[in-house]
Amino acid sequence: MKVSSIIAALLAASSAVDAKACTVQSSNGQSDDSQAIAKALVECAEDSVITFSEGIDYNVFNPVNASNLSNVTINMQGNLHLSQNITHMQSIVNASANTNATALYWFDLKGEGVNWVGSTNVTNGWIECYGQAWWDTNPPNGTGAAARPHLMHYNTSNAVMKNMKIHNTIAWGVVVNGENITITDTFIDVFTNSSGFPFNTDGFNVKGNNITILDSTIFNGDDAIAVQSGSYNILFKGGTIGYASHGLSIGSLGQDQSKFAAVENITFADVTVIDAVYAARFKSWIGGQGLTRNITWKNIRTFNVSFPIFVTQSYFNQGSAQTQIESGSTTVRPNNSSVIMENFNWVNFTGTINSYMPGDGSCVTDPCWYDAGLPNLKHNEAIIVECNTNTSCSNFSFENIQLSPQNRLEPSGICLNATADLNPQLGLEVDENGYCVNATYVPVSA
Ligand SMILES: *[C@@H]1O[C@H](CO)[C@@H](O)[C@H](O)[C@H]1NC(C)=O
Ligand SMILES: *[C@@H]1O[C@H](CO)[C@@H](O)[C@H](O)[C@H]1NC(C)=O
Ligand SMILES: *[C@@H]1O[C@H](CO)[C@@H](O)[C@H](O)[C@H]1NC(C)=O
Ligand SMILES: *[C@@H]1O[C@H](CO)[C@@H](O)[C@H](O)[C@H]1NC(C)=O
Ligand SMILES: *[C@@H]1O[C@H](CO)[C@@H](O)[C@H](O)[C@H]1NC(C)=O
Ligand SMILES: *[C@@H]1O[C@H](CO)[C@@H](O)[C@H](O)[C@H]1NC(C)=O
Ligand SMILES: *[C@@H]1O[C@H](CO)[C@@H](O)[C@H](O)[C@H]1NC(C)=O
Ligand SMILES: *[C@@H]1O[C@H](CO)[C@@H](O)[C@H](O)[C@H]1NC(C)=O
Ligand SMILES: *[C@@H]1O[C@H](CO)[C@@H](O)[C@H](O)[C@H]1NC(C)=O
Ligand SMILES: *[C@@H]1O[C@H](CO)[C@@H](O)[C@H](O)[C@H]1NC(C)=O
Ligand SMILES: *[C@@H]1O[C@H](CO)[C@@H](O)[C@H](O)[C@H]1NC(C)=O
Ligand SMILES: *[C@@H]1O[C@H](CO)[C@@H](O)[C@H](O)[C@H]1NC(C)=O
Repeated sequence: MKVSSIIAALLAASSAVDAKACTVQSSNGQSDDSQAIAKALVECAEDSVITFSEGIDYNVFNPVNASNLSNVTINMQGNLHLSQNITHMQSIVNASANTNATALYWFDLKGEGVNWVGSTNVTNGWIECYGQAWWDTNPPNGTGAAARPHLMHYNTSNAVMKNMKIHNTIAWGVVVNGENITITDTFIDVFTNSSGFPFNTDGFNVKGNNITILDSTIFNGDDAIAVQSGSYNILFKGGTIGYASHGLSIGSLGQDQSKFAAVENITFADVTVIDAVYAARFKSWIGGQGLTRNITWKNIRTFNVSFPIFVTQSYFNQGSAQTQIESGSTTVRPNNSSVIMENFNWVNFTGTINSYMPGDGSCVTDPCWYDAGLPNLKHNEAIIVECNTNTSCSNFSFENIQLSPQNRLEPSGICLNATADLNPQLGLEVDENGYCVNATYVPVSA
């Protein structure tokens, strides 16, 4: 070998990444494996692959927290099991220094390039959360058990998540934060076998830039995806959502009146929505401030959905006064501002509206939270738009909305405060003053 080649080889070797691999040890159901998982996340925190072995069970009885990850692939070929001891988990949540504004995450994964690669084998790669027992402890007319953990904070950038599988989330699924993240083939399966409703079992809560979520299957009891303030260039495309789903949501925005909510360039496309309360949904609080613009829902198929298209700028949380603020305390909430909505498009909706058994088991008040402020529902409503003021909604466009109520009435729309002046492509009837009106909805093709 020539000297120059040797030098080249040495240079190549010294610059090569010191790749590592860790295989997480399991007690095979005998004890808690969270220490072994934490150990692997430390030993293989950089340029590594961490493997959970195929078909092996891992007990995750304590939260797993890794905040210094870099270029790590978590290869999930086994199954993770959360603790079934509710008291134990609640004591951990209560002991944590968290407030309603933050959360205790059972898995808190942070760093650049944190990839989650789940098994393609249907029996492997699951996170078993045992939420049923939690839902069953929810008191009558309560909105969820106390001190529930969030499942996961996926706080990364330049990363991919594939084949994430979650069964019976206790509450709140995966919070996605960061930039340039692609998530594919998620399976979230939340289903109650009792009257205990799976409150707050959101699929994805997203806050970040350039995040793409493709081909998801999400059956749950809250938003399939809720896009939060601070989100830009998000695409949720393909797949099926349903059960007691609360839909493809933006928000809620503006709950904290002191913060300016910002959301821009969001597309939800090619999704089938089954049995859900909502399909396409926007929610913001009166007295909130902010700007949401360039949002599209397109090519959405509905089957038995209560409120296929729903916009409210006067959202509130069930079980609390409308005056609720971020900390959970209540104070006078003035109606002095709105989160402004601009350039919203709803294109190509087909399918059915749930006329006969609208809503879901999340109704614990009279009227139900989803019926509040809507006294004359006929359950043939294809579109409900509640703008807070006559200037808070502009450039709305409804195109090719073909939704059929099961009761065979003509589909109708409830529309408050969207004006023809600000919404020239509205596609809904307006009155002599140029305001959209509650009316039989006649689909208009552009
Ligand atoms: C990331 O880690 C892998 C080993 O898992 C390694 O092969 C690769 O070179 C690393 N990438 C970078 C950019 O360092
Ligand atoms: C799927 O995983 C199970 C359990 O680990 C195993 O018995 C089965 O052979 C796997 N199936 C395939 C197609 O790999
Ligand atoms: C459940 O956890 C609590 C609190 O940590 C503990 O006191 C109790 O013994 C545990 N129960 C069982 C059955 O392990
Ligand atoms: C986005 O992330 C992927 C890894 O998932 C990476 O290959 C790509 O270079 C990133 N793009 C940018 C612009 O950083
Ligand atoms: C945005 O995400 C896509 C898909 O991961 C990636 O190809 C692209 O490089 C990203 N762009 C930026 C600016 O991060
Ligand atoms: C609106 O957002 C979409 C992505 O959701 C993007 O392709 C499009 O360029 C944006 N339009 C404007 C005017 O920013
Ligand atoms: C929205 O998309 C447009 C068109 O691609 C782009 O110019 C703009 O920067 C995006 N907005 C944000 C906040 O990323
Ligand atoms: C969270 O909010 C609820 C009311 O919504 C309140 O009862 C509880 O004390 C709050 N918890 C914390 C830690 O702030
Ligand atoms: C709406 O559907 C029509 C007919 O399938 C299709 O040609 C068009 O591209 C769709 N529009 C959008 C915005 O995807
Ligand atoms: C639950 O709420 C409903 C509707 O407000 C009410 O009729 C019922 O009495 C409540 N049940 C309990 C146990 O509080
Ligand atoms: C439209 O419907 C809403 C909700 O039912 C109602 O508050 C409003 O008064 C109605 N407006 C008209 C003009 O009928
Ligand atoms: C419409 O907006 C005006 C202010 O712009 C407000 O006074 C009125 O209450 C709103 N109407 C409805 C039905 O929300």
